[in-house]
Amino acid sequence: MDDDDYSPSNSVTSVNSLASLLREKLQSIPQKIRKKPTDYKLRAFVGLMFLAVVFFVGFAYVLYHQQAATKAYFNNVQFNEPKKLIRIFNADEVEILRARLAVSHQGKSEVYPCLPEHQHHDGSICLEWLHSLRFYLKSLPRDPGVDNTTCFNIHWKALSNSIFPNDCFDWSDTKVHWYGGGQSINLTWPLDTGTIQYTPFITGDIQNSQMGNVLTRYLINSKGAAIIIDEETPLYISVNARNKEICLLAKYDDFAYANRLTEYAEMKYNICISTDMKSLHSSIHSHRSAPLWDGLKPIDMHILESLISEPVWQIAPRFKHELKAETISKYTEDVIYLGFLKQGHVLINEFWQNEIGDLAVDTSRFETLNETVDKLHRRGFKVAFTVQPFISTESANFGECVQKRLLISERNSDRRIPALTRFKSLASAGVLDITNSKTVPWIMNKLQAVIDKYDIDSFYFDLGTAYDMPHYYQCEKKLINPDQYKTAFIKTFEKTLKVIGVSSAVSLPSPPVFVSLPPFESTWEAMRRVIPTMLTYGINGYPFIMPGAVGGDIYWPGSEQFLPSSKGSADINITDSAHNGIDLPEVELYMRWLQMATFLPVMKFTHLPSKYNDERVLEMAKNLTSLRQKVVTPLLLKYKRSALEEGLPLVRPLWLVPGAAGAGGAGGAGADAALLVRDEFCVGDELVVAPILYPNTTTREVYLPAGLWQDGIDGSLRKGNRWMHEYRVPVDRVAYFIRKPDDMRF
Ligand SMILES: *[C@@H]1O[C@H](CO)[C@@H](O)[C@H](O)[C@H]1NC(C)=O
Ligand SMILES: *[C@@H]1O[C@H](CO)[C@@H](O)[C@H](O)[C@H]1NC(C)=O
Ligand SMILES: *[C@@H]1O[C@H](CO)[C@@H](O)[C@H](O)[C@H]1NC(C)=O
Ligand SMILES: *[C@@H]1O[C@H](CO)[C@@H](O)[C@H](O)[C@H]1NC(C)=O
Ligand SMILES: *[C@@H]1O[C@H](CO)[C@@H](O)[C@H](O)[C@H]1NC(C)=O
Ligand SMILES: *[C@@H]1O[C@H](CO)[C@@H](O)[C@H](O)[C@H]1NC(C)=O
Repeated sequence: MDDDDYSPSNSVTSVNSLASLLREKLQSIPQKIRKKPTDYKLRAFVGLMFLAVVFFVGFAYVLYHQQAATKAYFNNVQFNEPKKLIRIFNADEVEILRARLAVSHQGKSEVYPCLPEHQHHDGSICLEWLHSLRFYLKSLPRDPGVDNTTCFNIHWKALSNSIFPNDCFDWSDTKVHWYGGGQSINLTWPLDTGTIQYTPFITGDIQNSQMGNVLTRYLINSKGAAIIIDEETPLYISVNARNKEICLLAKYDDFAYANRLTEYAEMKYNICISTDMKSLHSSIHSHRSAPLWDGLKPIDMHILESLISEPVWQIAPRFKHELKAETISKYTEDVIYLGFLKQGHVLINEFWQNEIGDLAVDTSRFETLNETVDKLHRRGFKVAFTVQPFISTESANFGECVQKRLLISERNSDRRIPALTRFKSLASAGVLDITNSKTVPWIMNKLQAVIDKYDIDSFYFDLGTAYDMPHYYQCEKKLINPDQYKTAFIKTFEKTLKVIGVSSAVSLPSPPVFVSLPPFESTWEAMRRVIPTMLTYGINGYPFIMPGAVGGDIYWPGSEQFLPSSKGSADINITDSAHNGIDLPEVELYMRWLQMATFLPVMKFTHLPSKYNDERVLEMAKNLTSLRQKVVTPLLLKYKRSALEEGLPLVRPLWLVPGAAGAGGAGGAGADAALLVRDEFCVGDELVVAPILYPNTTTREVYLPAGLWQDGIDGSLRKGNRWMHEYRVPVDRVAYFIRKPDDMRF
């Protein structure tokens, strides 16, 4: 029943006064019969009765019209046309989604059915608000028996330049939580606890209040409704900006959505619903065009498994002159000297070149790099080079690229004028135009020469974010938005080169390509962002995620990233620069970070635990390494299968774990806990991890999902579906719980 807007208070008072009047009248009737002069009282009574009848008739009329304006479509959808309020119900008639559509266009004009030439003839409902907006709603076909997911498609067409489709999904009076989309400095897990003003939905640097480095146009709520927004929509998003709601806006602008695909903005998205959140999520992710393992070669599988079971050694000094063959060689010697860590992948940053964009080894610094690589191989390491699509204006290649028109050019200009941008330490650089058919073989030749000469094993693509594109960019082929560049770049090379990772993405690369978390600085605050970011990217459909280095990543002088200005510097020990000139993180931060990283899909190191000259750190690192090898790696390798089959993440939020209450939408405090916890995660379905994320802290609150769990610290059995308060975790220990069969007893 739609009961908003009309206020019942009037009717209540009139009913009350009517009743008292009636009582009074009935008592006085004998008097009235006897006394004729009081006839006027009877008239007043009749008059009042008449008014009451008019009122009730009027009320019924209004009610009728409200009901008539709310129409039901496709069993699950109610749409109130004048108010543009849409409500979607599941099979049990529970409201699971409520949205105010066209919010910036409320109550401005009458709605009409579309003219025949504007109808789609595919079962769509078509409505038009004259000269402003056209609206299509249709139900998408589904496979009966395959699953219980039903989807609807909403398509808005603006009919003038000043109108922007703008829909808001409401959570004000429903206890619902939202996940997915992306992360930002103010937007975390779940999304509805954050705030962000309208922001273009393109990748960026969360330090600048932009969206993060990995995005998916996918949002899912805890009641079992999901929104999947079309690639082509020029999408802006806001959360809790004015009301408690998440809003989508379609708008062209001069950077993020500069390339108009339609005359006026359009917004298209699907709303999918199912019986509960988990089955909805699985059904959406298992319905991609092909499973992830499709086309996977044995060598790819081997790389995938090695990234899970061996560490990645990130050698990333801040200055070019700090990267030398001896530093690389010495680093790997130190790893071997440690004795307990496996060899793994040595990931060398862009300073293997003289200038970014040379795509050739700097022979003045590395006279015999082929021999260094050979030595690393003999020691059991694999070697990966970082490659970027940016060509420094200082690079010897710049002139050639300009002359051959391989670079992205200035918009609305001659194709010969390259558009310049800044990137990390680079003050000015061009960007290779990947949509130009001549560019791909050019890059390929350069990289093949490096592979042939130096026998390196793989590459890591550092593609920057959308904001690293030149502001007025123009490619040979029109891009929908700057993020499409990344997708094109990855798709071009993922099959021809061995790629172990990419720095950002808006669509899923083929395995074994891992997608990186954004760089996190060496602070406790940054460490607390790792888990929510990891969980969001997993829900977004990226199962293989590469977190940053244990203890935090390194800032780049000359870029805005992590300038050691305000917060960062306190945690960095500036005096210790014996180590490649890179400062060691605070020891307690490093220990806690290492504990958390032990359970993540990839372990990446910049600083070795031995650098602290602290027996405590070394012993803990040794014990955590053996825990990872015995317990975590086998689990990750096991869940690799469901990742490849169904796109489910290796590291999961508690609500995705079987037995977690709340995923079905049931009430209660425990139910909400699984939905809200953002400082714990689960490896597959079987291992809950609750790391300490605050300095000088040895206790924390731990929520255990339903089931029977074995405590990793003391080995005891613990019952789930409850909170454990003040759970003790000494500085060299980490809280984790392994699922045991429910029928297991002492
Ligand atoms: C669909 O829902 C019905 C009834 O709720 C249930 O019996 C059936 O198992 C569900 N099917 C799938 C594939 O989840
Ligand atoms: C992030 O949150 C802070 C404090 O809550 C607020 O001042 C700031 O404006 C927010 N930033 C954005 C981009 O919404
Ligand atoms: C490295 O390159 C040099 C010169 O190109 C060559 O003489 C030498 O044999 C190479 N070493 C290895 C280990 O391939
Ligand atoms: C930095 O490290 C040095 C030696 O490693 C130590 O003496 C000093 O106390 C540390 N400073 C801080 C602020 O932690
Ligand atoms: C490491 O493991 C050994 C043997 O299992 C144990 O005695 C020691 O207490 C552990 N140390 C830490 C810091 O966990
Ligand atoms: C750490 O905690 C102890 C005891 O709770 C306190 O005495 C000490 O000052 C704290 N240290 C810091 C750096 O906060």
